[in-house]
Amino acid sequence: MTQKQLKELLRSQQGELNAVLMYQKLAKIVATDKEREAFLLLAKEEGRHASVFHGYTKQALKPKKTMAVIMPFLYRIFGKNRLYKIIAKAEYEAAAGYEHLIADFPEVESVKNDEKRHGDIVSSLLE
Ligand SMILES: [Fe+2]
Repeated sequence: MTQKQLKELLRSQQGELNAVLMYQKLAKIVATDKEREAFLLLAKEEGRHASVFHGYTKQALKPKKTMAVIMPFLYRIFGKNRLYKIIAKAEYEAAAGYEHLIADFPEVESVKNDEKRHGDIVSSLLE
């Protein structure tokens, strides 16, 4: 792989790790069991995504807590619906952003498909 590809895979791996903490935090602050279970599932799957990227980069990274720390504030400031729309959009954008990696890194396809499904799941929580 090229240096540029390695950098992108590492950036993706980091993003997935950060998302695990973000969704775990969200699961703690949401109002219903349905939402809690959805975000715990997403957290688990983001963890699998990080391991897919780890399989290519072979580098251990540490999750960054920033997004997890600000999540309760975002939840309060934006309100649930606006926040979920932002998150769903980010998931769909992640899916689109992974597309070009699939040719060289075929396992990324399942990650891409999950991100699309995550967008759908978060959208389904909108009221
Ligand atoms: Fe992911």
